Amino acid sequence: MKFSSSSAAVAASLLSASTGALAAAIAKQKFPTATQNLEITKEMLEISVFGGQTIRAPQVLNAGFVTPGRGPRALAKAYAKFGVEISPELLLILEEILEALGITVPGVAGTGGTSGTTGTGGTAANQSTSASQGMVAAVPQLFDSEYLAQVSIGTPPQTLKLDFDTGSSDLWVFSTETPKTQENGQTLYNIAGSSTAKQLQGATWSIRYGDGSSSSGDVYLDTVSIGGVTVANQAVESARQVSASFTNDSSSSGLLGLAMNSINQVQPTPQKTFFSNALANLAMPLFTANLKKTEAGNYNFGFIDTTEFEGSLSFVNANTTQGFWQFESAGFAVGNATTTAITSMPHQAIADTGTTLLMLPTAIVEAYYAQVPSAQNSQQLGGFVFDCNEDLPNLTLAIGSYNAVVPGSLINFAPADDLGASSSTAAGSASAVCFGGVQASTGLPFAIYGDVFLKSQFVVFHGGNAQLGFAPKPVTGQ
Ligand SMILES: *[C@@H]1O[C@H](CO)[C@@H](O)[C@H](O)[C@H]1NC(C)=O
Ligand SMILES: *[C@@H]1O[C@H](CO)[C@@H](O)[C@H](O)[C@H]1NC(C)=O
Ligand SMILES: *[C@@H]1O[C@H](CO)[C@@H](O)[C@H](O)[C@H]1NC(C)=O
Ligand SMILES: *[C@@H]1O[C@H](CO)[C@@H](O)[C@H](O)[C@H]1NC(C)=O
Ligand SMILES: *[C@@H]1O[C@H](CO)[C@@H](O)[C@H](O)[C@H]1NC(C)=O
Repeated sequence: MKFSSSSAAVAASLLSASTGALAAAIAKQKFPTATQNLEITKEMLEISVFGGQTIRAPQVLNAGFVTPGRGPRALAKAYAKFGVEISPELLLILEEILEALGITVPGVAGTGGTSGTTGTGGTAANQSTSASQGMVAAVPQLFDSEYLAQVSIGTPPQTLKLDFDTGSSDLWVFSTETPKTQENGQTLYNIAGSSTAKQLQGATWSIRYGDGSSSSGDVYLDTVSIGGVTVANQAVESARQVSASFTNDSSSSGLLGLAMNSINQVQPTPQKTFFSNALANLAMPLFTANLKKTEAGNYNFGFIDTTEFEGSLSFVNANTTQGFWQFESAGFAVGNATTTAITSMPHQAIADTGTTLLMLPTAIVEAYYAQVPSAQNSQQLGGFVFDCNEDLPNLTLAIGSYNAVVPGSLINFAPADDLGASSSTAAGSASAVCFGGVQASTGLPFAIYGDVFLKSQFVVFHGGNAQLGFAPKPVTGQ
C-alpha cells in the first residue's frame, strides 16, 4: 500500500475543512516517505474555529449486566454478520445458551439489557460558537458486545437507542409496523406520530444473516438528529419483520450503519447513511470512535478532540470498494513492538464497531496464544480459551508504520464459565476459564478489527477522502 497519496489526501481534506491555522501547520509538515503513514500532531489540530456542526455521542456504562455465553455468541454474531457458516460445534453451544435463556429458536441470541443512565463525555474540543454540539447516551451491551447511542427521529423527536455500526450501512428501526409478536420492549418509531415522516414509495429493504436471522421492511424519509446535528429526509428503514435474536435484544431499537453507501440494502434505490448525508454540514468530514471497556466512551461527529488520545494520529488509506472501512495491516508482534520485532503478515482488515471481537488470520491467533501457557482452542467453547488468572501479553498490530498496541487486559474478553449455567461442566473448574477476545477470522473475507481492538485506540473515520486515523489512548478497565 502506498501511503504517500493517502498523506496528501488527508492533508488536503483537513485543509479544506479548516481555517488557515491548520493549513499553515500542515504546510510546515515534512511529507512522509512512501512507507510511512501521515502523522497529524495535536498541535496541528489545535485550531480554535471550525465552521459547521459537531456532535458528541457519549456511551454510558451498563453496569454489571451479565448473560450466559457471550464469548461464543460474539463469535457467532461476527460469523453471522458476514455470512459465514457456523460450525456444528458452535451451533451446539449456541443452542445450549439459547436454551438456558429460555429461547427455543436456533440462531445467535441477543438478550434484553437494562438501560444505562445518560451521561456526558469528556471535555469538548474548542469549537466555534456557531458550531452546534449535542450529546447522546450510549450503552455497552452484554459486556461490550454492542454500543448503543440515542438517536432522535421524527417531528416531534422520538428518541431510540441504536447500535452504531461501522460495518453496515442501514439505519433500521423497530416501528409501529413491527408485528407485536416480534417486539420485546424496544422503543418503537411511531410513524403516524411524526409529522415529517413520508413513505419512500416502492422502497423495501431486507438484511439476512448466515445463520438465518434477519430483518426487513419498508422505508420512510424523516428528520434524524444525533445530538445537535440534523438530517432532513434521512432514509429510516422500518422493520416489518425481525428475527428472534433482534426481538430478544430489548434494549436495542435497531442499527445505525456507518459504513459506505454502496452496501445499503434498500431496493430498488440504495439510500445514503446518516453520516453521508450529514457530511457536508460537519465542521470536518469525519467521525471518531473512542470505545472503552465497561465504561463511558463516545463517538464524535465533525471534530477531533485532542484530549481523547495520546501522541499523534497516524492516517492510512481506507479501501472502500467492498463497502467497508477496510485497510491493510502489515503484521504483528506478541508483546510491545518496541521490544519485539514485527513479524510481517500482511492482511486486509476492516474497522468494525458492530463486531465484538478482534478476528485475525489464524497464524497470528496461534502465534499469540502460543505465548499464553494455559491457552487452548476449545471445541466445546468454540474458540480460544485460557485460565482467567493468566497475565496475557500485549498484541501489537502494525498498520502501515503505526504500531497499535492492544493491551493483554482487553484480550481477556469474558469468563467462559457462564455457559456452565446450562452445561454439566463442574462449576469449580469452569469458573477459571476465560474466552479470548482474539479469535480466528477463518472463512471471513478479511480480518475484523472489532471492539476488542477499537477499545485500545482512538480511531478517526475520515469520510472526506476515505482514510482511517489511529492513535493510542489511555486504556481503562484493565
Ligand atoms: C478557545 O477558543 C477561544 C477563541 O478562539 C480562546 O479564547 C480560548 O482560549 C480557547 N480555549 C481553549 C481551551 O483553547
Ligand atoms: C427472549 O428471552 C427471554 C428471556 O430473556 C425469554 O423469556 C423469551 O421467551 C424470549 N423471547 C423470544 C421471542 O424468543
Ligand atoms: C481494494 O480491495 C479490493 C477488494 O478486496 C481489491 O481488489 C483491491 O485491489 C484493493 N485496492 C487497493 C488499492 O488495495
Ligand atoms: C508497551 O506499550 C505501552 C503502550 O504503548 C506502553 O505504555 C508500555 O510502557 C510499553 N511497555 C513496555 C514494557 O515497553
Ligand atoms: C502492555 O500495554 C500496557 C498498556 O498499553 C502497558 O502498560 C504494559 O507495560 C504493556 N506490557 C508489556 C509487558 O509490554
